[in-house]
Amino acid sequence: MPELLLLSAVRPALLAALQDAYTIHKFYEEADQAGFLSAHAGQIEGVVTGGHIGIPPDLMAALPALRIIGINGVGYDRVDLEAARARGIRVTNTPDVLTDDVADLAVGLTIALLRGLPQAHAHVVAGRWPAAEMPLTRKVSGKRFGIMGMGRIGLAVAKRLAAFDGTIGYTANSDKPGGYTRYKDVEALAAASDVLVVCAAASAATRRIVGRAVFDALGPKGALVNIARGSIVDEPELVLALQEGRLGGAALDVFESEPNVPPALFALENVVLTPHVASATEETRTAMGQLMMDNLAAYFAGRPLLTPVV
Ligand code: 8YV
Repeated sequence: MPELLLLSAVRPALLAALQDAYTIHKFYEEADQAGFLSAHAGQIEGVVTGGHIGIPPDLMAALPALRIIGINGVGYDRVDLEAARARGIRVTNTPDVLTDDVADLAVGLTIALLRGLPQAHAHVVAGRWPAAEMPLTRKVSGKRFGIMGMGRIGLAVAKRLAAFDGTIGYTANSDKPGGYTRYKDVEALAAASDVLVVCAAASAATRRIVGRAVFDALGPKGALVNIARGSIVDEPELVLALQEGRLGGAALDVFESEPNVPPALFALENVVLTPHVASATEETRTAMGQLMMDNLAAYFAGRPLLTPVV
């Protein structure tokens, strides 16, 4: 059986399925990772990892027999694709199967933020309702929605937000279907939006691109929603903009240094924070795991990969 290195925990059913077909090494449980690598690096042919984890470059370099990296996620920003190409290492991801969930959460976060759902819940369970009404919130329908990154997920978000009878603008490298308005960059998009939803892929080009100028363009009533990657947002500037009231609010499922969230955000009322759960439903995680496994099986059987990145 080919030997695979698992870089993060997976659900028991997926682990069992992997163990049926491969010898699995749980790297994340190794107390002495350097020792493990000196003993086993030469036998590891595959790596299984999450989209938000990828593979550290030094680990990839330390695996001379590595032939395939199966990402259990759509994002491949944490895998050095050039290094993989140069070594003939194949890389697969799990597009499409998670699109609905991620888009659903983007809309859920938008409503949660504008309508103050976490605060409303806290109001009831803390027993404050009999004594005081909730402060009024902001209407979602009719807003100007901006979608940064109009790929599969951005388009699915647009399709859902279209039901709210506002306007929809976007940024992308080319015109996309749907009749939505395309803006030249994210700052121009923010200036024309009440809610900016970050759906772009992370790369060197998008690193911290949502920064001070974008927050100021969104303005004191504007809202930022991020279901993509934390690295796209300038987190220290975001905290300042929220603290100083230059930005109305933020709903964030992703952070720059997960699972670490800037503690300054915890003290703010105008945020909704979730722990990177956009694709975390039973149905979708099952489908993602299956697609990742199918890619591995295809690779080791010499068949074409289903969803190759490299
Ligand atoms: C998951 C993700 O959190 O698909 C991605 O790129 O970030 C998320 O779906 C993760 O990859 C699960 O392993």
